Amino acid sequence: MDTPSPAPARGPFITLEGPDGSGKSSLLPRLAALLRERGLDVVTTREPGSTPLGERIRSILLDTEPRIDHTGRADALLFAAARTQHVHEVIRPALARGAIVLCDRYADSSMAYQGAGSQIPLDEVRTLQQFATGGLWPDLTILLDLPVEAGLARKRDEVTRFEAYHDLAYHERVRAAFLAFAAAEPARYAVVDATRNPDAVLAASATALDRLADRWPALRG
Ligand code: TYD
Repeated sequence: MDTPSPAPARGPFITLEGPDGSGKSSLLPRLAALLRERGLDVVTTREPGSTPLGERIRSILLDTEPRIDHTGRADALLFAAARTQHVHEVIRPALARGAIVLCDRYADSSMAYQGAGSQIPLDEVRTLQQFATGGLWPDLTILLDLPVEAGLARKRDEVTRFEAYHDLAYHERVRAAFLAFAAAEPARYAVVDATRNPDAVLAASATALDRLADRWPALRG
């Protein structure tokens, strides 16, 4: 007879990742609503930001004005500082009470943007993530993938430093890195084709949640 696996001591941690304009921010509330309809406790959050310190760092990182120089390493440290505070104030407490945490971008974004995009050695960026998060990695990462130019075209109206001052080659490295991470960790990553319509993207993302149902049966659709 199968022994039921012990109930996990915390809620599942799910991140959404993808190149700019991949539609994460519109998917996130819809995915949360779908889970809440089932009576589940869901916390939605995003990076960089979501804490008072994180929001101040967010404006240093993303505002196009004033135009000041940032090295990739300075960016990596600023994102990491915001992430530390986010893990401490928001993510760990929510997971500890058993909530599902749905987070728009996390450590994999630093690996893709600062690592592959700004060409900082990946092992160094990974070590920094380990330090910043105390080793908290997502249980599931949904990667919304689409061609770089399609994503940037969608975001033309709300441009951050990352769209304004990084060239196409930078964004191509980011996309390729995300796909490489997904290939290297197929159990954690679910790749969703973000060129499809929003309903199809939502349905594919909801299906991906089933992967966690062994540990969190409430996630079975
Ligand atoms: P945002 O407007 O929130 O973009 P999106 O809707 O595409 O997530 O801007 C976040 C930008 O910051 C985005 O270009 C990716 C970048 N970023 C990093 O470079 N490293 C990181 O660790 C994170 C979290 C984001």
